[in-house]
Amino acid sequence: MKRTVSVAPMMDCTDRHDRFFLRLISKNVMLYSEMVATKSALHGDRKKILSFSQEEKPLALQVGGSDKKELSEVAKIAEDMGYDEININLGCPSKKVQKNMFGACLMKEPDLVSECINEMVNSCNIPVTAKTRIGFDDTEDFNYLNNFILKMKKAGCKTFILHARKAILKGLTPKQNLNIPKLNYEMVYKIKKENPDLEIIVNGGISKTEEIKKHLKICNGVMIGRAIYQNPYFLTEIEKEIFNTKDNPTREQIVEELLKYLEKEVKLGTKVNHIMRHTVGLYHGQVGSKNWKRYLSDNMMARDSDFQKAKHIMTIVQNNEKVNQPTA
Ligand SMILES: Cc1cc2nc3c(=O)[nH]c(=O)nc-3n(C[C@H](O)[C@H](O)[C@H](O)COP(=O)(O)O)c2cc1C
Repeated sequence: MKRTVSVAPMMDCTDRHDRFFLRLISKNVMLYSEMVATKSALHGDRKKILSFSQEEKPLALQVGGSDKKELSEVAKIAEDMGYDEININLGCPSKKVQKNMFGACLMKEPDLVSECINEMVNSCNIPVTAKTRIGFDDTEDFNYLNNFILKMKKAGCKTFILHARKAILKGLTPKQNLNIPKLNYEMVYKIKKENPDLEIIVNGGISKTEEIKKHLKICNGVMIGRAIYQNPYFLTEIEKEIFNTKDNPTREQIVEELLKYLEKEVKLGTKVNHIMRHTVGLYHGQVGSKNWKRYLSDNMMARDSDFQKAKHIMTIVQNNEKVNQPTA
């Protein structure tokens, strides 16, 4: 499986509609689900929580949990449903997540994590991967991180996504935890150099193709979150610069394809805004992008699954010259 560039799992962002939209822009990136708690996957509305369109693949399910039996059951379900990878979240610092004993606080429990990974590896045939931070609280130490990784390797994990900043488990909001702890790419590079046999994916603060190329000289892949969610058309630049893709769709072609999906989904009861909200950044950086955003916010809240609203949204794309006019 190719993980040269992947889109990061992001709660409330990378749902199945967003992934379908992103896949229209890029065929080569790896996609990840939002984090799903094991208990929701096992006892919730599984169809609603875990289903996806075949077009989204290759696709990983990210799971949050620390109960090895539950994790192994979810790994099997992910495989049976057609996911290409199961990823365990060892990096989320939110209070709620800590209370439930998953995410970044598990960096303190290398033995428990390895037992969980071992059970997952034994219960499925898809790759089991881990996404973690480079440290937590006062611990930002190469040996600690390396030993944690070695334990997980022994348990059967070969791919590690490393968010290159530590997590502060008390006192910072999740948003602050994405910005305040300093990025330390050198720590990630050192892990790769020490473990050349492992697939190491670097994550955190990457927003330019030049940066991707630099990281790829050392790491096996990069993972990008916010820069893609805020500016999804950045994926076209990634396709051109990293994957040498020649014929990339225009923004208008992307929305035309998305509209076919919208039509199908609206008939099944999906609300227009559940799909279109992910396209707010489509014209990011373009003159007149404000018009697109304003049009979406004025029109996409149709509560009645009214497909005509979707058609309306399209008109602004078809009249793209208007979209690109400078706003007064
Ligand atoms: C809105 C939002 C939701 C996130 N949700 C998750 C999540 O569900 N699982 C996870 O592992 N990381 C989550 N993250 C962290 C990202 O996956 C990523 O590690 C982080 O944003 C750093 O990458 P970036 O600088 O490219 O955005 C989230 C980040 C954001 C901004």
